[in-house]
Amino acid sequence: MLRRHSAARLPGRLLSSTKETKIGVVGLGLMGHGVAQVSAMAGFNVVAVEAKDEFLATGKKRIEGSLGKVISKNVQKGVYDESGGKKSYDEIMGRLTFTTKLEDLKNCDLIIEAIVENLPLKLDFYKKLGPLIKKDAIFCSNTSSLQITEMAKVSGRPANFVGLHFFNPVQIMKLVEIIRNSETSDDTFNKVSAFGKTIGKVTVSCGDTPGFIVNRLLVPYLMQAMAMVDRKDASVADIDVSMQLGAGHPMGPLHLADYIGLDTCLAIVEGWKVNYPNEPSFFVPKCLKDKVSAGKFGRKSGSGFYSWEGEKVGKPL
Ligand code: 3HC
Repeated sequence: MLRRHSAARLPGRLLSSTKETKIGVVGLGLMGHGVAQVSAMAGFNVVAVEAKDEFLATGKKRIEGSLGKVISKNVQKGVYDESGGKKSYDEIMGRLTFTTKLEDLKNCDLIIEAIVENLPLKLDFYKKLGPLIKKDAIFCSNTSSLQITEMAKVSGRPANFVGLHFFNPVQIMKLVEIIRNSETSDDTFNKVSAFGKTIGKVTVSCGDTPGFIVNRLLVPYLMQAMAMVDRKDASVADIDVSMQLGAGHPMGPLHLADYIGLDTCLAIVEGWKVNYPNEPSFFVPKCLKDKVSAGKFGRKSGSGFYSWEGEKVGKPL
């Protein structure tokens, strides 16, 4: 993952080399911090933006923790020695600029937004961002469930706008989905695809349909697992172990929902339920609503379907 890719692979004037190309990442939560990190690891200079100093500090700490893990694994594997590891760590962190000012994105060539999954907030963000940024910059939304077309319209540059959907943990999951709106240019699409490959991901493309490919299949499955909890069909532990050992999934669905964030899961299905009332697989399980109302968001808040200590999952609750 630390390998720097050949600049020659990137087509076009924009994104022509990792040295010349500046990436902006807005929102350093569970997804955004990973996007900023993998971009810096691939050799890009990154402007990492958060709304408040405290969120910025948390995002930076997440990157430091994950990068430290990656580097020490590489030292163990003999990719480099301790001092090579320290040098690499410092170089990667040195490519990241942390800021709370949106104006600091003004020289970025490609901006990836990973703010909260709320359409009015995203629309407001794109309205503000449009006039601040270079005319030919590309905008990418990491939305997991919202329509790209509406955001593209308010950004004032629909031809330069795509959805770029990463998976959690971004540092490990190999896939990224690219979603075009009806006006996305081929040039934009090709440049974003090249960026995806440069950061070491496999790219797939999908139309602007709810949940794109992965979440359209995954989220209804998570909701079905929660409906089983509501009906008391089986325990949380038994549902999860069944899907791990019976279907070969790395995590069971309730563990995974905690890992993604129950607030995120709820935001996705609530939005879909309103916009697609006739789709029976878009429903909100009671236990999900109750847990989020009680501030139990899963891994990020320390409890959900399980107790959590930082990154470590504990007992089912
Ligand atoms: N940063 C750096 N390294 C990390 C990391 C991170 N954030 N998280 C895990 N790792 C590394 C570990 O250090 C370990 O490295 P090693 O193999 O060299 O020792 C390796 O990844 C495996 O981690 P663990 O040993 O801790 O645990 P697992 O083997 O269980 O793997 C997992 C963890 C990769 C998260 C695996 O459980 C998994 O694939 N789970 C399913 C994840 C998934 O489905 N994600 C998609 C969610 S949907 C989504 O994100 C879309 C959104 O829109 C909702």
